[in-house]
Amino acid sequence: MAAATERRTKKETVEKVKEDLTAHIHETRCHPILIRLAWHDAGSYDKNKTEWPWRGGANGSVRFYPEISHAANAGLEGGVNLLKCISDKYEDITYADIFQLASAIAVKDAGGPSIPLRLGRKDAPGPESEQPEGNLPAGGAPWPNGEPGPGDHLRKIFYRMGMNDQEIVALSGAHTLGRAFPNRSGFGKDSTKYTKDGPGTKDGTKGGSSWTPEWLKFDNSYYKNAKEQHDSDLLVLETDDVLFRDDGFRPYAEKYAADQDAFFADYAKAHAKLSELGVDWNPEPFPVTV
Ligand code: HEM
Repeated sequence: MAAATERRTKKETVEKVKEDLTAHIHETRCHPILIRLAWHDAGSYDKNKTEWPWRGGANGSVRFYPEISHAANAGLEGGVNLLKCISDKYEDITYADIFQLASAIAVKDAGGPSIPLRLGRKDAPGPESEQPEGNLPAGGAPWPNGEPGPGDHLRKIFYRMGMNDQEIVALSGAHTLGRAFPNRSGFGKDSTKYTKDGPGTKDGTKGGSSWTPEWLKFDNSYYKNAKEQHDSDLLVLETDDVLFRDDGFRPYAEKYAADQDAFFADYAKAHAKLSELGVDWNPEPFPVTV
């Protein structure tokens, strides 16, 4: 993909973009992949690097090759393509903002909380700010940096972004939505009783393994399933399982399993923080209601 000409997000365009995105997401039912796309754009952030865009983060760089071809981003080109109808139609909003706006709308449209989102992100102009492979978490051993287990791995990855244990547990709850596919991440089954017939999304993906029975509904069932593990047709990665085994994570995981309102409140804050990692604003951030 060629380097983008400079875009700036104009407030007056945003309401129209929101309307189009909401209709598009609703129609395609591609909520999960859009949330994952925004997270993988933002989650490349390295707080130890100071310069924008070389510090990574929510700067739209995931749309560029080679970042989009990182193993962790398998399947996400489909997410970028899904948003092409919006990014082509509106030149007054950056890719970085479109990705984060689409994700926040997807969470809300699936029944989740309103994310206190701000817009005005600058776009990385080209692929040169690509972060090294391995900045995003792996779901199972072998752990890429030689960590002894999933808890150390999660902390190594998320602490580098400036996140804490509570935020790790809250953000993991996004797996209430979506599926893992053997031909993408290597996790999950080809299909399960929850994914073989639908509800299906319109990006052509079928099957896979979901973390929850209703994988297009945003609720706290992810925690309940990760805790109980009674159903072999539901996915529990090592990084999901550890949330109930690690002393630092467990109090939050138990709380979110028992109290959906507490999960929604903490999730919204952590998601908003994630959406601003590494961001440079042009000129100032402005709030948007999603
Ligand atoms: C905690 C560490 C995490 C690990 C190890 C992890 C791992 C994974 C894996 C292996 C997949 C399957 C990808 C595929 O096969 O297509 C996946 C999917 C997904 N992840 Fe995560 N993830 C993590 C955190 C997050 C966070 C923080 C978010 C969002 C805030 C998120 C949102 C999603 C969503 C929505 C999907 C479903 C995508 C789809 O159905 O297309 N994940 N994740």
